[in-house]
Amino acid sequence: MQSDPTLLASFLLLLPLVLPGQPQLVRSALNSMDGSGTFQCVVHLPNNSIFLQQLEQLQTTLQDLIGKYEQQLSRVKEYAHTTEDQDSQTLELSHMLESRNPGVTVSQFDNPAFNLLHLELEGAQELVSQLQAKAGVSGAMELIRQLRNQVTNASLALKLLADSDYRSFQEEVDILESRLSECEREKEQEQSSTYPGPPLAPGSCTHGGLQKVSRPLVLKLNWRGLQYKAGAWGRDSAPNPSSSLYWVSPLRADGRYFDYYRLHKSYDDLVLLKHYEQWKMGYGDGSGNTVYKNFMYFNYYGTRDIAKVDLSSNTLVLRRSLPGATYNNRFSYAAVPWTTLDFAGDEKGLWVLYATEESKGNLVISRLNDSTLEVEQTWYTSQYKPALSGAFMACGVLYALRSLSTRQEEIFYAYDTTTSQEHHLSIRLDKMLETLHGINYCPWDHKLYVYNDGFLINYDLTFLTLQEKLPSSPIKKPSGASALSKPIKPTSPPGQETP
Ligand SMILES: *[C@@H]1O[C@H](CO)[C@@H](O)[C@H](O)[C@H]1NC(C)=O
Ligand SMILES: *[C@@H]1O[C@H](CO)[C@@H](O)[C@H](O)[C@H]1NC(C)=O
Ligand SMILES: *[C@@H]1O[C@H](CO)[C@@H](O)[C@H](O)[C@H]1NC(C)=O
Repeated sequence: MQSDPTLLASFLLLLPLVLPGQPQLVRSALNSMDGSGTFQCVVHLPNNSIFLQQLEQLQTTLQDLIGKYEQQLSRVKEYAHTTEDQDSQTLELSHMLESRNPGVTVSQFDNPAFNLLHLELEGAQELVSQLQAKAGVSGAMELIRQLRNQVTNASLALKLLADSDYRSFQEEVDILESRLSECEREKEQEQSSTYPGPPLAPGSCTHGGLQKVSRPLVLKLNWRGLQYKAGAWGRDSAPNPSSSLYWVSPLRADGRYFDYYRLHKSYDDLVLLKHYEQWKMGYGDGSGNTVYKNFMYFNYYGTRDIAKVDLSSNTLVLRRSLPGATYNNRFSYAAVPWTTLDFAGDEKGLWVLYATEESKGNLVISRLNDSTLEVEQTWYTSQYKPALSGAFMACGVLYALRSLSTRQEEIFYAYDTTTSQEHHLSIRLDKMLETLHGINYCPWDHKLYVYNDGFLINYDLTFLTLQEKLPSSPIKKPSGASALSKPIKPTSPPGQETP
């Protein structure tokens, strides 16, 4: 380079047109004056060196842009978490937009973070355009084109992110939030509507009848496995049981033959599958069995007989025929084969639910003398047994269920044996799987124990207070006691009316 300061000054004036702000790149310059007296400055820019330097510079710019982009992306994530400052930021942004781009206040995205990012990218695009205009050297064109592509790609990615990912993410968050608040609302309702009086004492009937049923608590799969879809489980359904025994009786996989059962000393033992006694019986039919005062009652295989087994020794202590009862799958509950005799225990005693030819398949309730297995009294309901999905007794009231769907059941009918009156009601209960097999009530903890296609589930029952007791709305003429019934003295099992 020449040492003449004037020439150098002229050269330096020309430089920014070639390479803005990079005079040190120039290795040699040649100057001359033309005929009109103007200096002509010819600059030899070393081919490779210039190219490399430009490459470096563009790469630096690129890195800057990528850095900014990543910075903004991380900001987007932050914004997704904290949306509190959105309003003020939107305000700030609109100021910014106005100052940068007066008259244009339309924001492209809902989220201020995206708008900010969009602005940065617009700036980058402008920068690329300027670079393109200034860098006339052909070698840089390809790089600039690439840079432009990258900025365009980044804008597209931003648009995609704003349009799809972020929005669907936001939607999911919204859905989750609404579910959460729904859940909270339900919980509040549940809390406000639970039995408002003093807690119902174990085995007590001082209430106004069933009010509602909780969501199912799924305990576990039965010990024999998934293919054992039919069965029953529960606790002793005497109001004042002598033990905290839990029994589980999955039927054989054919859904009929009742051969084994297990007894667990406590709930924890049941959950942990330990400390159990496993007995083989080999003569039960269906899942209508129940446990009452430490005896298992069930339908003797292929007969209309009631069998009674002492659980402390697994010995059959009594077997007696139930007069008129149909058997061998005649008038079983809907979708639950082999439930011709369904036993139930409650605060008032031991019951058997069945049907006869005389009842035309309608459900019949008989109270049994649990010592002799004789029928004490019988009531006829108006409900065709094969139309029901199950039934249980609580405080001498029969509650009948029907399936509404694969996920819901309805307790739709009640028959009070004390008044011989029946009425309709609608208490829904969710189920995990389609079919409820054995449904057994335990007066001690006011829970329903249900065998749901192999899974052991239970429900908490909530009862109305005596003041809330629904006015009885009889459906039709109650049938009253049947010809089969014997007049009985109103005996009550011990512990029945514990306050
Ligand atoms: C510039 O580089 C190209 C390709 O690398 C080469 O063909 C050309 O001769 C070089 N020009 C000068 C002035 O070095
Ligand atoms: C821009 O995206 C296209 C399509 O995904 C891709 O082929 C191209 O290489 C990208 N360009 C840059 C500079 O990243
Ligand atoms: C059951 O029958 C026996 C014999 O008839 C009688 O002594 C007993 O009191 C009856 N039990 C109940 C709960 O009625």
